[in-house]
Amino acid sequence: MNCSITGLQWGDEGKGKVVDILSENSDIVVRYSGGANAGHTVVVGDTKFALHLLPSGSVRPNIICVITNGVVIDPQGLIKEIETLGEKNITMTDRLFISENAHIVLDYHKKEDQLREESLGKNKIGTTIRGIGPCYADKIGRSYAVRMADLRDLDALKAKLKSIVAYKNKIFAALYNAEPIDADEIFEKCRHYANNLLGFTIDTTEFLHKSITQGKSILFEGAQGALLDLDHGTFPFVTSSNASSLGMPAGCGVPAKVVDKFFGVVKAYSTRVGAGPFPTEQDNEIGQYIRDKGNEYGTTTGRPRRCGWFDAVAVSYTAAISSIDAIAMMHLDTLAGLKELKICRAYKINGKETTFFPANTTRLSQAECVYETTEVWDEDISTVKDFNELPANAQKYVMLIEQITGKPVTIIGVGPKRNQIIYR
Ligand code: GDP
Ligand code: IMO
Ligand code: MG
Repeated sequence: MNCSITGLQWGDEGKGKVVDILSENSDIVVRYSGGANAGHTVVVGDTKFALHLLPSGSVRPNIICVITNGVVIDPQGLIKEIETLGEKNITMTDRLFISENAHIVLDYHKKEDQLREESLGKNKIGTTIRGIGPCYADKIGRSYAVRMADLRDLDALKAKLKSIVAYKNKIFAALYNAEPIDADEIFEKCRHYANNLLGFTIDTTEFLHKSITQGKSILFEGAQGALLDLDHGTFPFVTSSNASSLGMPAGCGVPAKVVDKFFGVVKAYSTRVGAGPFPTEQDNEIGQYIRDKGNEYGTTTGRPRRCGWFDAVAVSYTAAISSIDAIAMMHLDTLAGLKELKICRAYKINGKETTFFPANTTRLSQAECVYETTEVWDEDISTVKDFNELPANAQKYVMLIEQITGKPVTIIGVGPKRNQIIYR
């Protein structure tokens, strides 16, 4: 069985945990989009792993991990992640495969990301400054792009970097009055990347198609969330890749029809890091309660996450574009103890009610939420293993979300650990 995991909100839904749990029955886990902007947490016993580029299957020593063409790779970060796992006696040797067609994030991408965000002032996107946008822009622009395969011919790469860096330095000086960067320094780093990563680098499309023919079970791990999708999210406050499941086929060269089951991951409420519209945001003591109880601080940047009510309009939309069969809902435990509980079931835009999410930011920023108020519960549910043992109001909350979104919630998270999970 092949499964796909997609975040249905603005990222950080708990994809790492869900991938970790479902990968127990998989042979291969594939990361197909985004880059080190992602931060996927997996908790194994008392050990917490924060994975940025390595698929979350990495923590299970028998699983093959593949990073495909759609990912933008920060080689320095990836080498460090492999080393960090090594320190915990988890080796990636012979079980990590990186696409030769994946693009590489270099220092000038991170610098450009930072300079642009600074220059935008209050209009900034609030990126992770991991160089994601500039690297994808170079990919689309083609002429100044560097891919993993370029590390195989260092002489050619040296010449290429010279011309790219000359171009970038003109931009840095003219637009930002910034210090130039040194092409030789970047080249020396690339030599180090080549030494450390070429041993893992292959044609991953060929590898995946052969694996499918052999009947291997594959898990496709999405990064970010579908509301951050470049084409279908809350543009321009999005990331620079197709974070919905629509990014999967292009991001790894495998058609979506090989996927038997598409899981969408949500939190029992909503969070967002960075700028952009967030209709159900609770910038008040309710949001603070959720932030404190759910430990809502970024895995990658440590920034406090904005928190708010569950938005069923947004999730119905992202579930539709991501062809979701079933929902995994994390953090149900975090809602215990709230004095009130609401689910957004429709928007009112210019006096008219709609249940279809307007991905146009201007219309979305005019949306007023129409809420369904549900009853609260106080009990700690972090040790509950069976849906029927949840407080009646927690059960009703889940069933109301099923009713509004039309999708079954088949996995429920009641804590960060592997065993804090309920299957239905
Ligand atoms: P991802 O980017 O979607 O993988 O999510 P992150 O790892 O960035 O953020 C999810 C956070 O929630 C992590 O700290 C997880 O350990 C934690 N987590 C996951 N599932 C649950 C859950 O059901 N309950 C609680 N309390 N924490 C959870
Ligand atoms: P995971 O995989 C949450 C957000 C950033 C910013 C916007 C653009 O852990 O769910 P970028 O650096 O991509 O150009 O930033 O996207 N963002 C995420 N938010 N989780 C993520 O990944 C994110 N990756 C990017 O905060 O608003
Ligand atoms: Mg995250």
